[in-house]
Amino acid sequence: MNMETRVYPDLDALSHAVLEETHRILKQAIAERGRFSIALSGGHTPARMYALWAEGIGAPTPWDRVHLFWGDERFVPLDDLLSNYRMTRETLIAHVPIPAANVHPVPTNLASPTKAAEAYEAELRKFFGSAPPQFDLQLLGLGIEGHVASLFPDSPALEEKERWVAAVRAPAEPPNRLTLTPVVLNQGRNTFFLVSGENKRAILAALRDELDSRPSEYPAGRIRPAGRSLWFLDQAAAD
Ligand code: 6PG
Repeated sequence: MNMETRVYPDLDALSHAVLEETHRILKQAIAERGRFSIALSGGHTPARMYALWAEGIGAPTPWDRVHLFWGDERFVPLDDLLSNYRMTRETLIAHVPIPAANVHPVPTNLASPTKAAEAYEAELRKFFGSAPPQFDLQLLGLGIEGHVASLFPDSPALEEKERWVAAVRAPAEPPNRLTLTPVVLNQGRNTFFLVSGENKRAILAALRDELDSRPSEYPAGRIRPAGRSLWFLDQAAAD
């Protein structure tokens, strides 16, 4: 598959580069549409970029114009150690003057994952309207078996054609998760895949070797957003 790839010596350099590009997209989105919407990823890789953003590196951020969403979330309380929201709160949100109304966590306090998925879709519809959202930027990670967001190999959510958010069972801890579906992820104006560490080499090679003419075996290869996609790799992942 054809992947526009940038390689950086380490996670710190990668994170600075992602932040620099984020500032560029943010500025343009605010100039054109008055606001910047971003779907954030969980996992270890983006945490450094969130921390740099919180420090104000690169450029000042007009936080009242920024809207934070999540590409996926674990069905755990928002203060749980496994919560993607919690990770973002600790690295970014707690340190910047973003209005509470601009932070849109997945409501994992509801009675079931299905109810949380429905409520999150309703929240997205309130913000974006009736057409599937085009996030200005979506950050995605890559799992060693090719998952992105919480779309794991063979997940029925990969075939979803209507719903924007799905409740899924993941072969990982914790198994109950919520994820944006390809209905949304394939609309993104900008999509950055953030990949670090040598345990990602094999899956990156497998993705690169796939032919564009066939549907990918891997969820990561099934996300082909309408806008620009860029892969940010550290050297360990790229070698
Ligand atoms: C999650 C994620 C997930 C993650 C990948 C890569 O909630 O776990 O959003 O899709 O991005 O598992 O994670 P690492 O950055 O830790 O390798």
